Order: sequence, then structure tokens, then C-alpha cells
Amino acid sequence: MSIIKRVILSGVVCSFILAGCQNSGPSETSPNSTNDNSETGLSSETQDSTLPIEDTEYGRGAQSDGADTNAQEEPTRIISDDANSIIIYFSRSGNTQNLARMIYNEAGGDMLELTVADPYPSDYEQAVERADEEREKQAYPEIDTEIPNLSQYDTVYLGYQTWSMTLSNPMISFLMDYGSNFSGKTIYPFSTNAGYGEGDSIQRIEELAQDASVATSFSIQDEDLLDNQEQVTTWLNED
Ligand SMILES: Cc1cc2nc3c(=O)[nH]c(=O)nc-3n(C[C@H](O)[C@H](O)[C@H](O)COP(=O)(O)O)c2cc1C
Repeated sequence: MSIIKRVILSGVVCSFILAGCQNSGPSETSPNSTNDNSETGLSSETQDSTLPIEDTEYGRGAQSDGADTNAQEEPTRIISDDANSIIIYFSRSGNTQNLARMIYNEAGGDMLELTVADPYPSDYEQAVERADEEREKQAYPEIDTEIPNLSQYDTVYLGYQTWSMTLSNPMISFLMDYGSNFSGKTIYPFSTNAGYGEGDSIQRIEELAQDASVATSFSIQDEDLLDNQEQVTTWLNED
């Protein structure tokens, strides 16, 4: 068994021993904007861009760039005045970002990449160690993305990765801070994992965003993602 697989499994075991989570800090500051349409005044109707899918090695245990996908570019932030759907995601090593972009390239709407104030280590095992420690202490990372007013959106595609068979820590933080803002909206959860599935992440979303309705989720193994655009398309067209 590879080291990475062992690390994942140890995380899985920990997650079952250490159930339950609390805590996190508030959000502040803003990054970015590759495409900040709220500032350009562009409407979502006028967006005809697609976002690139990275095809470098983003499989199991992929090293991150040490800046949660943002070493080479600003976090993605596409906010218009009139879109009624938004893709909100966090990605450490690019897999979930690729999935978010596959969704964006088909469904359009707005898009917001979440970042944490202190990015996770590029090294996989160190990242697992930090994530385990945060979970044990229930001290989840501070989200430093400026969150726009979410009232215009009916539909939220919520993207995260499985960590210790549940929501990744940044997504727990985000939902602890903003879960109540999803009242009356429909959340479409999407996630990537290393072969063990989405764990109890859907239940966690239901707990943390109690007044939202949670639609059928989509989760895919990291290594399989790039060859499976049609699965993404099928999921998007399900309802
Ligand atoms: C801290 C940490 C914990 C993880 N725990 C699990 C797990 O419990 N089950 C699983 O299938 N994959 C696990 N993974 C693998 C990731 O879910 C998978 O590689 C995912 O695609 C990473 O997404 P990202 O590149 O968007 O960050 C873990 C990865 C990390 C860094």
C-alpha cells in the first residue's frame, strides 16, 4: 500500500473516532479577480468565456502549489449583477477546481473560489497532518475570501474535497460562517475524492445549511475526473 493511501486511511480512521466539529474564524479581506464582473458591470448573459482545465498530474495525493491553486493566478472570482446560480468551491491541489471549471464551462453563472488565510502545505502528508490537527482541536481555518451578497442566487453549486471522509476543513469553516445565508436556496454539492467517496459530507452540509434544500450530489475520484466530462454533464442535466 502506498504511503499516500496509508495516510488517507489513517485520516479515515481518525474521522470515525473524532466525530463532530465546531469553530472557525470570520471572513475578511478580498483577493482578486481574474474576471470580476461585478466591477466591470458585465452581466452573466454576456459571459462567453470558458475556464481552462489543468491537465498536469492532479491525481491521488497530488502535490499542491503551496498556495491552494493560487500560486500562479488570483483566486477565481466571477460575480455578476444578475446570475441566479453560483459555483462556490475550495481546492487545495487542483482537482476540485478542475471539476468546478467543468461545471462552469457547461452551466455558466457566477463563480467564487474560497481561500484560507493560511494556505495548506504543498506536501500531501503535511497537509493531512495539519488537517487532522485542526479537526482534533475543532479549530477550522479562517476563510479570507470576501463573500458577496448571496441573495440573488437560487442555486449554489458547492464544491469541496473529501477530507477524512467528510467535508474538507475549509468548507466546514465556510458553512459554519455562511450556512445560514443559504436559506431557501438549492445546494448542488460536488466533490472529488481519492477513491473513498463523499463520506458523510452531505449530512454535514444539511446540518450546517439547515434551511437550504440539498439536491443530488456529484462526487468523483480525482484520477477519473478528466476523462469523465460526460458524467458531469449527465449530473447537471438530471433535474
Ligand atoms: C488532508 C486530506 C485528507 C484527505 N482525506 C481523504 C479521505 O478521507 N478520503 C478520500 O477519498 N480522499 C481523501 N483525500 C484526497 C482528496 O480528497 C482528493 O485528492 C481530492 O481530489 C483533492 O482535491 P483538491 O485537489 O481540490 O484539493 C484527502 C486529501 C487530503 C489533503
